[in-house]
Amino acid sequence: MSQPNPEVLASVLADAIDPILHRPLGTLGYLKSVNVKRRGTAAVELLIPVPGAPGHALIEEVSGAAQSVKGVRSVRIEHELMSDDQRSELMAGVRGEKRPVGGPGSSTYVVAISSGKGGVGKSSVTTNLAVSLAALGHSVGVLDADVWGYSVPNMLGARGAPVVIADSILPLRAHGVSVISIDYFVPDGQAVVWRGPMLHKALEQFLTDVFWDEPAFLLIDMPPGTGDVAISISQFVPRARVLLVTTPQPTARRVASRAALMADRVDQKLVGVVENMSWFTGDDGKRYHLFGEGGGAALAHESEVDLLVQIPIVTEMRAGADRGEPVSVSAPDSEAAKAFDRLARCLVETRPRIRTHPELRIG
Ligand SMILES: Nc1ncnc2c1ncn2[C@@H]1O[C@H](COP(=O)(O)OP(=O)(O)OP(=O)(O)O)[C@@H](O)[C@H]1O
Ligand SMILES: [Mg+2]
Repeated sequence: MSQPNPEVLASVLADAIDPILHRPLGTLGYLKSVNVKRRGTAAVELLIPVPGAPGHALIEEVSGAAQSVKGVRSVRIEHELMSDDQRSELMAGVRGEKRPVGGPGSSTYVVAISSGKGGVGKSSVTTNLAVSLAALGHSVGVLDADVWGYSVPNMLGARGAPVVIADSILPLRAHGVSVISIDYFVPDGQAVVWRGPMLHKALEQFLTDVFWDEPAFLLIDMPPGTGDVAISISQFVPRARVLLVTTPQPTARRVASRAALMADRVDQKLVGVVENMSWFTGDDGKRYHLFGEGGGAALAHESEVDLLVQIPIVTEMRAGADRGEPVSVSAPDSEAAKAFDRLARCLVETRPRIRTHPELRIG
């Protein structure tokens, strides 16, 4: 049996994609050496940025790529840790100069999901909308800005600790979505008292130090109410738009319109209104309007935007969220899953055409 061609092996490995940074290994400087040893063994020395063994996905990518080369019968992978300088160089090469996602020069469409009051389904809308956008083929990040009641990691089943390379924080991934939450940075079970400046700093880090990699969409799950977080976000991402969530109840609508007023005060445009928990379809096929009717339409009318979608109450949606599954996984054929798909398509329509080179002016 013939030995593998070393040049072919090296070039196939250089084109293999790092599962975390989504770039070819060759451009990342991950390949310290690639050799062909006796009996068709591909010997790969990796230079990796994170201490410990290389991740499972990276190992699979490397061995899969090597095994695709004719004559390779086994793969041996060794690894070594990058130096601080190599790490900094790596991240500088990957992301260039750090700037806030959605800030000047960024093509990311940032949408904050807001409501005046708690419990209406902001986090459910954020997570399910994100997963539906990803299913349509868009790159999506979710920033859980609810620093007091973070629930996004649980709802998406995105557990663990973010990887940090040089001074860049890499989001976790779940259901095709990148996620960052304060949950990842507070010790288990400890309450954090966020004071204004600290909160402002944390949000700045989430927008600037996190390597979001220019997603098409960044959805921000806002805390209930209309306070400090909204002001900070509006300062870091002046172009962010606001999606209002309400229930059909008239009282919920009144509070949600306060969120609309807040958006107006900080000069953020509204994208539209989502009415959640609109009805429950019984086994008899009848719709039961458990929380009344008309709240979403009324809020949309008074805020002069469209009611984009009504999302019914679906038991599996709640149950799925508790297990870390979006409704498109727990109940893919449900009315709610279809509603989120429609909402995702609506949101794509509202995407502004952004000039990515603000320095270029016509005329
Ligand atoms: N359409 C729905 N059908 C069934 N359950 C739902 C629906 N929308 C939300 N829920 C459930 O209602 C609860 C509250 O929703 P969620 O946490 O999304 O609200 P929230 O506005 O983010 O709350 P908070 O203000 O506390 O952040 C959750 O348990 C969620 O799973
Ligand atoms: Mg929430």
